[in-house]
Amino acid sequence: MSKLPKFQDARLLVGTETADDAAVYEISKELAIIQTVDFFTPVVDDPYTFGQIAAANALSDIYAMGGEPRLALNVAAFPSCLPPDILGDILAGGADKVMEAGAVLAGGHTIMDDEPKYGLCVTGFVHPKKVWTNNGAKQGDILILTKPLGSGILTTAEKGGMVSEEEIKKAIHTMAYLNKYACEAVQDLRVHGCTDITGFGLAGHAGEMAEGSQKTILIHSGKVPVLDGALTYASMGFVPAGAYRNREYVSAEISRNIQGQPIEDILYDPQTSGGLLISIHPGDVQEAVKRLSTLEIPGTIIGEVIEKQEKSLLLD
Ligand code: CO
Ligand code: CO
Ligand code: CO
Repeated sequence: MSKLPKFQDARLLVGTETADDAAVYEISKELAIIQTVDFFTPVVDDPYTFGQIAAANALSDIYAMGGEPRLALNVAAFPSCLPPDILGDILAGGADKVMEAGAVLAGGHTIMDDEPKYGLCVTGFVHPKKVWTNNGAKQGDILILTKPLGSGILTTAEKGGMVSEEEIKKAIHTMAYLNKYACEAVQDLRVHGCTDITGFGLAGHAGEMAEGSQKTILIHSGKVPVLDGALTYASMGFVPAGAYRNREYVSAEISRNIQGQPIEDILYDPQTSGGLLISIHPGDVQEAVKRLSTLEIPGTIIGEVIEKQEKSLLLD
């Protein structure tokens, strides 16, 4: 990215500078479009379920910006040696999620490739003054996480044949669940910052939010919601390579009481289609948690935003 030329446009409200979830471009005083593209290789065996998860993940970047998805296009790669029915199932899973999101699926593009890949290019609408960025967190804000962590660890352990059917079912339900519901639940409240938890894990994305906002974020590890089984499999060593990269990448200050414990692996675990990390005015937290508690997956208070310290992220 650093080798690319810098593009200047007064209408570009969010570009590449702040490592945010999507680009935001102002159309008028009342309307901005949010644009994002995301695709990846299968995380589960069932093609329809993979399609659902990949689409939920791509749509999530619109919700992380406080917007509403309106138009989606398929992005797919598929090997010629596999039956085309499988691609059909992947696309059907994705289409069902786009429909659930209330957006329109209007085409796309598939290329031949050795490994299947699927995702979406999504355009969303947002009021230009109501964009949630990942750099607006304010001192005193409370942090809410809207999905449990550990999907990377569970899918790694599943490849090792370890995970129970009940555990993987819960993980899949979490990954396929749209962030739409959490986004809509808090839309009229004082949300100062938001991002979704994906490849960099909670610690990585929270670190970006803290740095962008020029604050320090304190995460109470004991409060962080975790998928059933994830702590056990982490302690058995089923930790994806990405978690180790994330640990290295984040210049976090880790207090002694969690260092080397399974919960630490959870905080670095790369998530597929993870939840929203919402930084909200303390006066609106109670209302937010009350509303989120009525959803299929409730939100949890996991930390707070404090004055900037030497380290941008504190894990206790
Ligand atoms: Co994102
Ligand atoms: Co993304
Ligand atoms: Co954002």
